[in-house]
Amino acid sequence: EVQPVIMAGGSGTRLWPLSRAGYPKQFLVLAGNTSLFQQATTRLAALADNAITVAGPVVVGNEEHRFMVLDQLREVQLDPSAVLLEPMGRNTAPALTLAALQALEGGTDPVLVVTPADQTVTDAAAFTAALRRAVAEAAEGAIVILGITPDRPETGYGYIRTQEDAAGLAVAQFVEKPDAATAQRYVDEGNYFWNSGMFVLRASVWMKALERFRPDIAAATRASWTPRQNDAKFVRPGKAEFAAVPSESVDYAVMERCPGSEFPLRMVPLAAGWNDLGAWEAVWQVADKDESGNAFKGDAIFSDSRNSLVHATSRLVSVVGLDDVVVVETADAVLVSDRARSQDVKNIVKKLEAEK
Ligand code: GDD
Ligand code: MG
Repeated sequence: EVQPVIMAGGSGTRLWPLSRAGYPKQFLVLAGNTSLFQQATTRLAALADNAITVAGPVVVGNEEHRFMVLDQLREVQLDPSAVLLEPMGRNTAPALTLAALQALEGGTDPVLVVTPADQTVTDAAAFTAALRRAVAEAAEGAIVILGITPDRPETGYGYIRTQEDAAGLAVAQFVEKPDAATAQRYVDEGNYFWNSGMFVLRASVWMKALERFRPDIAAATRASWTPRQNDAKFVRPGKAEFAAVPSESVDYAVMERCPGSEFPLRMVPLAAGWNDLGAWEAVWQVADKDESGNAFKGDAIFSDSRNSLVHATSRLVSVVGLDDVVVVETADAVLVSDRARSQDVKNIVKKLEAEK
């Protein structure tokens, strides 16, 4: 049995002002008709076939978003196995640990298909085929990463170097978020993949690897674990105990340390039009554009303007004589940014938080 695990507790600050603490990007409709979170969950539900049964998703997110999670799942007709509610974010390693502990409660050891909730995929058939291959390898005990062929020296991703063997691709090296020069070197060398952030592995394999590399995170998260009562959907770790869990990502805590260890890492290539909607630039990239390269959601008028993005929620936005800009209008905040600088929107959020 396959257990989808959706990591939905991030804050998405680079997509401010649309993405807010109370309504972060994974729950927004940024591409297509459903939210990124809804797309992530329905993609995994589609893995089911004659050989694979797929359980309802385990969602790991913030306490604050619990009703949004339930409402959005209901809209796409999915019934969660459990919704694990973190009192505060401790990054993805503790989040995945909660999901693994939940999965092991049933006395079985399902294959977890772990996915971020902030990505888009255009080729559903290619996605399903790659994931099914990953599930088959993970069932044998491997940790499987889905890898993407890079097209630029992006520093926000993990990089993977692979080695071919009889069974497919072994991961020889995993480097999380290299600096710009290193990323450039990896792209030039050509034999590196990006980590998609999707992992496939048995729940017990995650627990063993974490206990091996970060016993402190394993112990602290176990100490916070509170089994669910009856058949309630919401499961809550103890607040004080969870606050004491070290904050770390899956990538730094475990994946980087696997190559060369007793936890073999495998990679399955994913060529399915994958995109991580990290910043407004990526939203523009995946959007439908007119003949001038402009994209918009809501009411927008462009005049003598090219390659720009408008996201309007309540008012008409017009852009005249400007190229490569992003304008995001909401009821209480407006962003105007150079499209190429959209990563730096997080600096605005930092300034706002400092002023609080
Ligand atoms: N439950 C929970 N709790 N979820 C979280 C938390 C948390 O504290 N922090 C982040 N998440 C969720 C986010 O909502 C997102 O869906 C996913 O976990 C990944 O977190 P990001 O913060 O978006 O990670 P990243 O983009 O910096 O890096 C990861 O993804 C890249 C690909 O997009 C890494 O895995 C990289 O190696 C990878 O290349
Ligand atoms: Mg991300």
